[in-house]
Amino acid sequence: MRLTGKVAIITGAGQGIGEAYARRFATEGARVVVADVNAEKGAIVARDIGAVFERVDVASEEDTRRLARAVVDRFGRIDVLINNAAIFFGIDNQNHSYAYLRKIFDVNYFGAWLMCRAVFPHMRDGGGGSVINQSSGAAYVHPEYPIEGDDLPSFHYSVTKAALNAMTHYMAGCVGKYGIRVNAIAPGPTLTEATRQGVPEHIMELIINFQMAIHRALDPDDLTGTAVWLASDDAKMVTGQVIPVDGGMIMLG
Ligand SMILES: NC(=O)c1ccc[n+]([C@@H]2O[C@H](COP(=O)([O-])OP(=O)(O)OC[C@H]3O[C@@H](n4cnc5c(N)ncnc54)[C@H](O)[C@@H]3O)[C@@H](O)[C@H]2O)c1
Repeated sequence: MRLTGKVAIITGAGQGIGEAYARRFATEGARVVVADVNAEKGAIVARDIGAVFERVDVASEEDTRRLARAVVDRFGRIDVLINNAAIFFGIDNQNHSYAYLRKIFDVNYFGAWLMCRAVFPHMRDGGGGSVINQSSGAAYVHPEYPIEGDDLPSFHYSVTKAALNAMTHYMAGCVGKYGIRVNAIAPGPTLTEATRQGVPEHIMELIINFQMAIHRALDPDDLTGTAVWLASDDAKMVTGQVIPVDGGMIMLG
């Protein structure tokens, strides 16, 4: 077991990739906090793996502070934060309004920042920690949106993930002195309910066959080993990195 005793908050762990992270972290000996806005699903996952459930809307300052406080009250420390929650399931890729752009930013970007702010003093006072931001290959690919009339696309989802990458770099640079590491995982197309429902089959096939070196979509379990490694002491000198786990879709370096 590689995470014995570590206290890990995983946001958006009520389903999909976050759920896979929570299950794997529990088997690695971590004390897992399943944190999700969906209380029904989150509570089921937590019960199933012997974890704690906390309801949180990551876009709420009050919720994020309350969550961090509750975890410290219960466990005395916070070692790992995975900022996995995002608006992804049911995302409206045709809605390029300013209001919708802000809504996506509120959860996908500001939510991660609010969670970082809430856990920071506890990680610092505990001697360090590991933050893992859930980015996406979408931060790198160039989306092709039709332009109708004067309407400019907002690129909402991709831009929030690119912003998360930037935050990963800046934050790593400033909290390293407290023993806090900040990294990101950028998954390729991963078979969750959100993808099945939101990505048309022919698009998925194009991505798999023409954009990936390894011609298959990921399972959520394909991502968990990288998260375990980043959370573990094996990665104690790794910070400020965005790590694509995508079968060779994006090749940095
Ligand atoms: N599935 C993919 O192909 C893929 C690829 C790259 C990156 N990602 C990223 O991985 C993460 C998980 O993806 P998924 O496919 O499991 O998505 P999903 O939509 O199935 O799961 C997201 C989870 O986040 C929770 N959530 C949403 N808004 C929240 C909020 N305001 N506060 C707290 N929890 C909230 C949801 O309830 C849900 O449990 C997301 O960050 C997504 O952007 C997914």
